[in-house]
Amino acid sequence: MKIQVKQQENNGIHFHLSNKSVSLVIESTQDGYVFLRHFGKKIRNYHASNRPQALDRAFSPGPYADSRCFSLDTQRQVYATAGMGDFRYPAIMIANEKDQGLDLRLLTYEVQDGVVPIAGLPSSHANQKAAQTLKLVLEDRVLAIQVVLFYTLFAESTVIATHVEVTNNSQQGYTIEKLHSAMLDLEHCNYELIELAGAYAREKTLQKTPLKQGLMSVNSRRGASSHQATPFTCLAAPTTNEEQGEVIGMHLLYSGDFEAGVFVDQLATTRMFIGLNHETFRWQLEPQATFTSPEALLTYTDQGFGQMTQDMHDFVKAHILTGQHQNALRPILLNNWEATYFDFDEAKILALADKAVEAGIELLVLDDGWFGQRNDDNTSLGDWFLNEAKLPKGLANLVEQVNQKGLQFGIWVEPEMVSVTSELYRQHPDWCLHMAKRPHLYSRNQLVLDLSREDVQNYLIEAMSTVFASANISYVKWDMNRNMTCVASALQQHGIKEISHRYILGLYKILTALIEKFPHILFESCSGGGGRYDLGMLAYMPQTWTSDNTDAICRLNIQYGTSFIYPAITMGAHVSAVPNHQVGRITSLATRGAIAMAGNLGYELDLTQLPQTELTEIAQQVQTYKAIRPIIQAGDLYRLLNPTTTPNETAFLYISKDKTEAVVTYCKVLAQAESPTTVLRLKGLDETARYRDTKTQQCYGGDELMHVGVTIPLARTDFYTVTFHFQKC
Ligand code: GLA
Repeated sequence: MKIQVKQQENNGIHFHLSNKSVSLVIESTQDGYVFLRHFGKKIRNYHASNRPQALDRAFSPGPYADSRCFSLDTQRQVYATAGMGDFRYPAIMIANEKDQGLDLRLLTYEVQDGVVPIAGLPSSHANQKAAQTLKLVLEDRVLAIQVVLFYTLFAESTVIATHVEVTNNSQQGYTIEKLHSAMLDLEHCNYELIELAGAYAREKTLQKTPLKQGLMSVNSRRGASSHQATPFTCLAAPTTNEEQGEVIGMHLLYSGDFEAGVFVDQLATTRMFIGLNHETFRWQLEPQATFTSPEALLTYTDQGFGQMTQDMHDFVKAHILTGQHQNALRPILLNNWEATYFDFDEAKILALADKAVEAGIELLVLDDGWFGQRNDDNTSLGDWFLNEAKLPKGLANLVEQVNQKGLQFGIWVEPEMVSVTSELYRQHPDWCLHMAKRPHLYSRNQLVLDLSREDVQNYLIEAMSTVFASANISYVKWDMNRNMTCVASALQQHGIKEISHRYILGLYKILTALIEKFPHILFESCSGGGGRYDLGMLAYMPQTWTSDNTDAICRLNIQYGTSFIYPAITMGAHVSAVPNHQVGRITSLATRGAIAMAGNLGYELDLTQLPQTELTEIAQQVQTYKAIRPIIQAGDLYRLLNPTTTPNETAFLYISKDKTEAVVTYCKVLAQAESPTTVLRLKGLDETARYRDTKTQQCYGGDELMHVGVTIPLARTDFYTVTFHFQKC
């Protein structure tokens, strides 16, 4: 990692940031304009080989009366403003009644060791020596607004982190109308825009769209990053595959409304961006106040989607996840949700615990329904005291009994919500997001608490602390089961368009306090499955419930999309009952197990109702997973066959970092007559080593497994999986 700063003869400056494989080159001109010269493959030195030709472009205005060949409209900018000649999609907009321009020029710069944490927001972490940050301080003299751009390099990663800070040095207030976290102007538009779209129970569906002139946006305005979108986008040439091709990626460490995408201009250049969604965001910037954007990550590789994935997985594990559980192997859990839904009592939970122990499961999770009068999903959110009808002997007593059986205990909460039928709502009807003159809008019959309010934040820290301290709780599943509407605060302390962002700041404040108080608890975030599976939440909670859809075949797509950017250690994957509760499909226990083992394995079915043969099979699965868990959770992922290109066949491979062990999973969705034979060529092994197939004990060279491959035996059945586990001989 290196930050080179070179003064040029013409008084410009070249800033060349480079890590293991990526270079970012920024040039400031004599007059302080700041332009992007390169973001891509690492180069040794930059000598302006690609300096743009000065051309007089029609309808592109500029600041120099004596030169018609300079316009911000035609420059590859680093951080574009509005109103100063660039008609493309701006990264920042600031205004008051008299002025809505922003003419940013470089004032000064600074290089410092380490990362620059962002107060109140999640950001990548690293040791002081393992990261280096360039600060570019830009200024608009007329408004007395300072904009600082931060770019952080990491010694062991190819990812670059960036964020933006805006300070009002004037005596008057301004409104920030738009503030993106990252922007890249790329020289052409021969790309596809890749996003992870979807729906409830169909999250992280990979979608590719060729670029076109104009705006293409990936966004959420639901108050959460959402099931429908992911705060991520990447651009890749249409021929890019797992192994080759340039991929430029952007990620946002944020859990609320966001916007990412591209704007392709008249000259076929591409502006790529990510940041807060300006539709639902405004910020009043008072004199001397500073506002900081969420952090964004920039990634680049010329080695295809596979390398992009590995770079991100390594980065998330090293620099996003934190705390005691950062990279600790995750316990295999049994969750009672699909086993009992709301219909349980102590005896039922203990019976499940007994079966879990028999199977070798390590953690029992008590899901929704343990509190208030919660016997269905219409009531009691907010009443975080025990439902004594179900658990008359108390929570601590139940946990003690579960612990005595040798299991850890986890509990479900949904703190951000309130049911109208609850003590909390009766006491504080004004604590939910609502617009004074409008009726509520219900979703799952619940309302969203106003986390922009300090009293609500403090109440939640207190209420959750009481629950978490009330028994020996090792794990918490933190759920969030509706999106925001009627976004307004009864306090009316702030502009109404500040509330969505203030909500997320409130949420992060609560999470920070609770994680500090309960460092031993493993937190899993959930929003009806993957409705808030984003880097913001992962910075506090190191795992996520990937999807409420537990069908193994649907999971092929969901987990494929998720695996694009998030590592298996963060990705909850459970074996559930058949017919599947979401789609009605019947798949074998072997297939359900094999697919769930691609993530962070758990079970979510009534073990007390299963025949002994299935319990024995589950015990074997648990044993198998314990043996391969370090490979899945700490290893490297290689996707061999993808559901987007070969919809009937999926295959993936996890290899331990030291390349001594590999796990291959193959799944064929529907059986075919006279099916062609599939021979899978593995990747990433040590070519010169020999690997033993743990089932057959046969040894093969790493080169043979990679260049010749393994034959998948044919079977006359749908939803068919085959797994291999290879160990270095
Ligand atoms: C959400 C979660 C489920 C379960 C239910 C309980 O839908 O995603 O896993 O916890 O809530 O109400």
